[in-house]
Amino acid sequence: MNEAGSEALDYGNWVPWKLIYGPGILAVALLALALRWRVFLVGALFFLGCLVYFAYARYQFSTRGENLEARVRGLVVEHLRWNGEGTALDIGCGNGPLTTELAKQYPRARVVGIDPWNSAWDYSRKTCERNAALEGVADRVTFQSGSAVSLPFEDESFDAAISNLVFHSIADAKDKTQLVKEALRVVKKGGRFCFQDQMVGRGKYGKPDELLQEVRGWGVQRADFFDTREAALVPRLLRNPIMVGNVGIICGTK
Ligand SMILES: C[S@@+](CC[C@H](N)C(=O)[O-])C[C@H]1O[C@@H](n2cnc3c(N)ncnc32)[C@H](O)[C@@H]1O
Repeated sequence: MNEAGSEALDYGNWVPWKLIYGPGILAVALLALALRWRVFLVGALFFLGCLVYFAYARYQFSTRGENLEARVRGLVVEHLRWNGEGTALDIGCGNGPLTTELAKQYPRARVVGIDPWNSAWDYSRKTCERNAALEGVADRVTFQSGSAVSLPFEDESFDAAISNLVFHSIADAKDKTQLVKEALRVVKKGGRFCFQDQMVGRGKYGKPDELLQEVRGWGVQRADFFDTREAALVPRLLRNPIMVGNVGIICGTK
């Protein structure tokens, strides 16, 4: 069942409910205190602002709003440029939107979605499996628990690999470039890859040129960088590092 209690696709949202409920609860508590001590009003207004901002972002990302999540994810499929023969891996699949999308785009392909499904997000393996059934691709899609830090697959197991907005959120991997290396480890020579993450600017991966140079140094046949900002999908209020303001794609052929 989805949030509305019906059998419908549920691909979740990059703004989990806790980012809305949490500030809401704090704002109410501080407002109550502000009735007696004015100084708490500042904190109450701050958390009220957070609530409004995250609610706006959730709406923009959702299918009820601007469907921004699907449009940003679409860039991963677009830049993968795979022939659809064999098996693909979706690293950090969430509720499986890209896993099922790849299966739909490539009717002969098998797709594996992997995610730890921990409590930080509102995603689950059960929801992935229901989504795959509803999309009519359950016979070619599998989901399993695991981490991008150490993928539970042999070297060169997959014909393609994708990942969308995952690596930046992995707290126990300081060096995000190593996560790209680990992802490429499981791709066959000549296989395709496309990883979208917070790659623009110096922040988490160094400069895009340095990232490309490093990846090319691992012996991949081809690696390209695309600045997601060029697709002009993201409204101004969401163009910041905590949302989707510094996102880029590294893609190519191993
Ligand atoms: C912003 S969500 C993106 C989900 C999905 N890729 C999408 O495009 O909707 C980040 C995802 O990273 C996953 N994640 C967190 N730590 C991970 C890890 N160590 N390995 C793989 N995935 C992880 C989370 O569970 C969550 O599903």
